[in-house]
Amino acid sequence: MLLSNKGDLERFPATASIFFPGGKPLSSSNRLVQPDLAKTLALIEEQGRDGFYLGENARKIAAYCASSGGTITENDLRDYKPKWREPIHFQYKNLDIYAPGLPSSGGVVMAEILKTLAYYDLSRFEPKSPGYMHLFVEAARRAYADREEYLGDPDFVHNYTSNLLDDSYIATRARSIDTAKASVSEEIQPGIAKERTEPIQTTHLVVSDADGNIVSLTYTLNLEFGSKAIVPEAGFFLNNEMDDFAIAPGQANAFGLAGGQPNVIQPGKRMLSSMSPTIVLKGNHPYLALGSPGGSKIITAVAQTILNYAVFGMPISRAVAAPRFHHQWLPDAVYVEKGGYESKVLTNLIGKGHTVEERPPYCEVMALQFSMEGLYVTGAADPRGPGCVLGW
Ligand code: DON
Repeated sequence: MLLSNKGDLERFPATASIFFPGGKPLSSSNRLVQPDLAKTLALIEEQGRDGFYLGENARKIAAYCASSGGTITENDLRDYKPKWREPIHFQYKNLDIYAPGLPSSGGVVMAEILKTLAYYDLSRFEPKSPGYMHLFVEAARRAYADREEYLGDPDFVHNYTSNLLDDSYIATRARSIDTAKASVSEEIQPGIAKERTEPIQTTHLVVSDADGNIVSLTYTLNLEFGSKAIVPEAGFFLNNEMDDFAIAPGQANAFGLAGGQPNVIQPGKRMLSSMSPTIVLKGNHPYLALGSPGGSKIITAVAQTILNYAVFGMPISRAVAAPRFHHQWLPDAVYVEKGGYESKVLTNLIGKGHTVEERPPYCEVMALQFSMEGLYVTGAADPRGPGCVLGW
């Protein structure tokens, strides 16, 4: 180890003098003596915490930092306090597991992994079997996605532990695992709705109940805050849905739609919407229910989500999260979500004569998937937005 770290260790004289006496690494036949460390340990033995954080030792650390471009002062050391953190407690099968809480991610991430795996009977696998390894990897992939998005020192950032370990959240996470196929990490978004601001736009919700009723509902004011005008003493915004009409021949609306003769403004006429709250049946049984905000792009987003699920065999969460592309006749361009497609795919499309434009993520599809036996309903909220899945 000393040899492989020689370059770095030798940059620091106090390190070099101990581990490379006379410029040579200590070897197994040498005696390692650390009298300075012994003095420091004796100070801690005599004075406890203060032996390290105050007095002689603190002065040595601060002086060394000052002389070598560091920033730790004696005051920093004096003010540093150990803190008691509540351990994470969770159950895996018949085990009670206690592990560190934040700011270690250990307890939370381990709990997410094991609670997710509790949905599977691992005992039917061998520890080196691809079946077990696949499930573990999928559980870990999801838990670590949450780690990066949500976890940090709870003295500074909101503590999401209880949201992440919530049983219904874990159930949703577990259900998003395809037991046969690896997910793609870029498509695995952190799962819980963060305290994000609700986007100022159209909203889709989809709900089903135990009696088999299904509602797929898109609500819109058209653009942000509609016409911006609130009806005095009534408190609500007036929409600016007039933009969904063809305003004038050849003049595109807010969504770039060209606007045709049948959609010109006329008294009593209603404007042409793109809203697509959709319910899909298969053999007369509920199969999917979905919809999205997103103006003119709603239609292609909903159509592609149905194809992702029904034709390409993606689980519903992937079907919703997968990258999208859009074309609306005019402008004559294929919009593709930035980063969603390999450049060879885009080059091929360009080679076929398409104009391709990369765009930021768009639409927020909300979907319900119904199992054919009618036993299960699985919800998927688009990771592009703050929506979430709830069950009662
Ligand atoms: O009905 C329509 O097609 C539009 N008013 C929808 C607007 C919309 O989705 C805006 N949200 N992104």
